[in-house]
Amino acid sequence: MKKTKLKELESCLQDVDVFERPKLLLEQYPTRPHIAACMLYTIHNTFDDIENKTVADLGCGCGMLSIGSAMLGAGLCVGFDIDADALEIFNRNVEEFELANINMVQCDICSLSETMPETFDTVIMNPPFGTKHNKGMDMIFLKTALRMARTAVYSLHKTSTRQHIQKKADEWKVKMEVIAELKYDLPASYKFHKKKSVDIEVDFIRFSVDKLLNQGMALKPI
Ligand SMILES: C[S@@+](CC[C@H](N)C(=O)[O-])C[C@H]1O[C@@H](n2cnc3c(N)ncnc32)[C@H](O)[C@@H]1O
Repeated sequence: MKKTKLKELESCLQDVDVFERPKLLLEQYPTRPHIAACMLYTIHNTFDDIENKTVADLGCGCGMLSIGSAMLGAGLCVGFDIDADALEIFNRNVEEFELANINMVQCDICSLSETMPETFDTVIMNPPFGTKHNKGMDMIFLKTALRMARTAVYSLHKTSTRQHIQKKADEWKVKMEVIAELKYDLPASYKFHKKKSVDIEVDFIRFSVDKLLNQGMALKPI
């Protein structure tokens, strides 16, 4: 397969249509093409966790990370999101990009926690940070992702939560590596934002899944 370059990937991702009317409570903001391209390129080039792999994208929204994964040669990428409007845009994007190796499922990630164990090689996600009356949602997404993955989970988390996440990773006996620290500018998509965008510090983290070590993690409370 032809090697996709970082700039080429970012430029393609700029054509992904995003949320038309983002829903505040679902924390709907797209991963910017530059960040999405850097994340996916690293997952692909440094860790070889995309090409010919089965990939799940939790909270896929309009499909920014799924589409990038499919373009980098995922065997199959399945996006999961609760919101039908977002998935409709995702579907349009998939048709526009003419990608065959993508699927999508409408569901609440909270209802997946006991299902689909070790179903995907890799799980990627930009989860809700749990700041909109949905406290703990980031950890529900993470725990679900760790159950679904056979090899690794890649996720974005607020840097301010790093210690808490490290504590949970230790408890679950999952190896966690902060791959990059990002300045993430959340666009002011909501009326109460006074500034155009707000910069927050975000960690891009890789969790390595070792099922032998992880047996029984589902029994432990979040
Ligand atoms: C920060 S956005 C990321 C969107 C997309 N992955 C991207 O990178 O552009 C978080 C996504 O999680 C979805 N979401 C929020 N709560 C959810 C839940 N309980 N179950 C499934 N999806 C959820 C939202 O609809 C939204 O699309």
